[in-house]
Amino acid sequence: MNLTLRVWRQKNAKDRGRIVEYKVHDVSPDMSFLEMLDVTNEQLIEKGEEPIAFDHDCREGICGMCGLVINGIPHGPESATTTCQLHMRNFSNGDTITIEPWRARAFPIIRDLIVDRTAFDRIIRVDGKAGGFVSISTGGVPDANAIPIPKDDADLAMDAAACVGCGACVAACPNASAMLFVAAKVGHLGLLPQGQTERHNRVLRMVSQMDKEGFGGCTNMGECAAACPKEISLDFIARMNCDMIKASFVKG
Ligand code: SF4
Ligand code: FES
Repeated sequence: MNLTLRVWRQKNAKDRGRIVEYKVHDVSPDMSFLEMLDVTNEQLIEKGEEPIAFDHDCREGICGMCGLVINGIPHGPESATTTCQLHMRNFSNGDTITIEPWRARAFPIIRDLIVDRTAFDRIIRVDGKAGGFVSISTGGVPDANAIPIPKDDADLAMDAAACVGCGACVAACPNASAMLFVAAKVGHLGLLPQGQTERHNRVLRMVSQMDKEGFGGCTNMGECAAACPKEISLDFIARMNCDMIKASFVKG
């Protein structure tokens, strides 16, 4: 396949950035989108040009590091698929593909297609702030397995725990809201017995940190769930809102 790429290039956080057009050749339909970018970078380096900076790690859909807006869609045209698992067979020879980074005030651009997602880390943070953790001793694996958990709760907790923290929900939301991410984290811990001790503090601290980071409010657009590669349900946002109301009464 021969493609035309329109790629966001930005030297650093202060650079204004711009779209630059590249021709790339010898792309196999069996390549992943990131492998196509590897090939593009090899061709750029051969020409003495600066390669395109983009984030990635596992390339298996489990780490949440990859994330590109492809033709205006976070993670591209295939639903329930991370950028690293998107294959070039979803495109056609001769296509023009526009590739941009996540766009959100809370995710400032570091370089080209790489954004700073440490706002998510600060929502999760373990050292006394925010709350995406369980600080009580769960007694190790044998004891934890001995705690009976209703199957429906365990299944729902696993659904929420599938969130890989990629940030596509924020990128897709017209308000750049992080509600789906936070709701997934609040949901998966709040459904398990080990998560009950800190349940009220957790939701209050995580939502407070989310607001401090500059994410927008949720207005029920649903774009987040549509873009989520792990199909996190909007129901978790409703569940978190219930937890918030209860926690406000208990702690207020
Ligand atoms: S909720 Fe979905 S889109 Fe948002 S960070 Fe988690 S996996 Fe990514
Ligand atoms: S590189 Fe890990 S999820 Fe894509």
